[in-house]
Amino acid sequence: MGKLFVVGVGPGGIDLISERGVLAIKKSNLICGYKRYVELITDLINGKEIFTNSMKGEMERVKFAINRAKRGDTVSLVCGGDASLYSLASLVFEMSDGFENIEVIPGITAAMAASAKLGAPICEDIVFLSLSDLLTPWKVIEKRVDAINFGDFVTAIYNPRSKKRKDYLKFVLEKFYQERGDLICGVVKNCEREDEEVKIWRISEFEYDFVDMSTIIIVGNTKTYLENDKMITPRGYLDKYKEFNVQSSGFKV
Ligand SMILES: C[S@@+](CC[C@H](N)C(=O)[O-])C[C@H]1O[C@@H](n2cnc3c(N)ncnc32)[C@H](O)[C@@H]1O
Repeated sequence: MGKLFVVGVGPGGIDLISERGVLAIKKSNLICGYKRYVELITDLINGKEIFTNSMKGEMERVKFAINRAKRGDTVSLVCGGDASLYSLASLVFEMSDGFENIEVIPGITAAMAASAKLGAPICEDIVFLSLSDLLTPWKVIEKRVDAINFGDFVTAIYNPRSKKRKDYLKFVLEKFYQERGDLICGVVKNCEREDEEVKIWRISEFEYDFVDMSTIIIVGNTKTYLENDKMITPRGYLDKYKEFNVQSSGFKV
């Protein structure tokens, strides 16, 4: 019987794929994926059959992977970052049509990879927000932005800008500014890839033209602060355990 692995390959280099993911890819005789993500893992897939296509080819890609697994192949459908978040795992189950030998292998999502680059902006409740209105109507996205303000959530903004959606990011950051002030934004382009760039700006100084579709933005909440160029959202330990002598234990307060 064939098998379909849906593998999250992380944000960039193969050293951030889980061991389980690497094993699944090695076991597979067919690798399916979006061209750009497959290119990031060429060292792992040399000599295997490869099926790639471009953006908006997702349904064709998933159908191909399922059909080949149904016919007895061991297939890895590779997805950038995590295999579920703004990715294909749910579509695989929706299109599986009775085929059950499916295993989803999680990957490091762009938000967490970027958080590590920026310091520690994500340490508690967070919202993942995509600004793509291809599958989610803009009206729904707008409502979610209001809910984020209401909850003062740290927010990871995916799919922040495309040629057709130039102004969405500005709209969202202005809404954040109106309700919560000049929040700190960590901006990571091509995270964990060769041409990685990291910036930290306040909303008021945000350079929108820097942002493209390979960029993720982590907007802090009202408690997030900057120290030594690191974005830090306190979890609350120092407030709660005031009696703990941070200085004598070698930590800086
Ligand atoms: C369709 S979503 C896929 C998300 C992916 N499944 C994940 O878990 O990271 C694509 C968006 O993810 C973000 N993204 C993915 N990989 C990235 C990277 N290496 N650096 C910066 N942003 C990235 C960008 O916002 C991009 O527009």
